[in-house]
Amino acid sequence: MEFLIAPIIVALLASLLALIISIVDKHVNNYGDVEININKGKKVINTKGGDKLLTTLSSEGIFIPSACGGRGSCGSCKCEVSTDIGPILPTERPYLSPEEMNKNTRLACQIKVKKNLDMYIPEELFNAKEFSGIVEEINDLTYDIKEVIVSIGDESIDFVSGRYIQLVVPPYGKIKEYTQRAYSISSKPSEKNKVAMLIRLIPDGIATTWVHNYMKVGEKLKLIGPFGEFQKSDCNSTMVCIAGGSGMAPFKSMFHDMLEKGEIDREVWYFFGARTIKDLFLLKEFQEIEKKWPNFHFIPALSNCSPDDDWDGEKGLITDVLDKYLKTEIDSSKHREGFLCGSPGMIGACNNILNHNGIRDIFYDNFS
Ligand code: FES
Repeated sequence: MEFLIAPIIVALLASLLALIISIVDKHVNNYGDVEININKGKKVINTKGGDKLLTTLSSEGIFIPSACGGRGSCGSCKCEVSTDIGPILPTERPYLSPEEMNKNTRLACQIKVKKNLDMYIPEELFNAKEFSGIVEEINDLTYDIKEVIVSIGDESIDFVSGRYIQLVVPPYGKIKEYTQRAYSISSKPSEKNKVAMLIRLIPDGIATTWVHNYMKVGEKLKLIGPFGEFQKSDCNSTMVCIAGGSGMAPFKSMFHDMLEKGEIDREVWYFFGARTIKDLFLLKEFQEIEKKWPNFHFIPALSNCSPDDDWDGEKGLITDVLDKYLKTEIDSSKHREGFLCGSPGMIGACNNILNHNGIRDIFYDNFS
């Protein structure tokens, strides 16, 4: 045990030092009043300096995506700051491409507001809000995927199918701080007073463990959003959509929205990859959509089907099933677009298959 004493003392001293620096910085360095000019005057904030840009903006009702809750580990809080605010920090570098660095892109959770700033964010972010919700339903879809439906009462959410929302997870058990995680919205845009998500349990995942083991119907929570760029295009090209697991969420929203709006001339091929029969869910729902929408084709496929399973659908890796349909069933004389939602591995593999079959316009929602 003695060999642990020195590292523990060093770690404690380092934490103490960091705490003292942050307290001194907050109370001794007075950055005074500052003006944050967003998108050339579209929004001007007058506030006190000294806090992180992300926190300063959210306290003024401007929400930038922050899937990690401001810890500098997701890279989603990017914004362009045209005022010189010092060199790019080592904590920002892993998330910024050379082009982004040249365009003065910064991570809002890593930089501090010390003087007047000019910055740019996508205009759509002006619509992102913090919602107070109540958990209305928690439904088991499989042994490790739950559908969570949150009522936002009299508030109303405006979004395009394909967007995501950040769930604010309260402290629980050994987790002592609030944290945030991003989930695609599975409800349709016309359902203005509720937000549904499909959440798969990730072993030791802070948010998913809370949802699966602690969250209760009737509980109050906060949601922030909507965010994201994933959505269907406005043209009439054939949609080749591929999802795995909870990657079902944005497609569920999209297809119900299209059906509701009568956009059923468009041809859609929806491939859903799962390992075993236990991992399949909402089959009936998509089979119902197929009945109402003749151009809609739902192809669930199992990669680890056992001979005893009662399954007469497609078998094999989703990439192989996709390749087979692209070569034999899906009309290649029409313009086709790919839409992917799932793990980075699945997206990469399906992206290659789409490319090999001549599909160049590919959009994806990556779970990484
Ligand atoms: S919020 Fe995650 S990196 Fe800034």
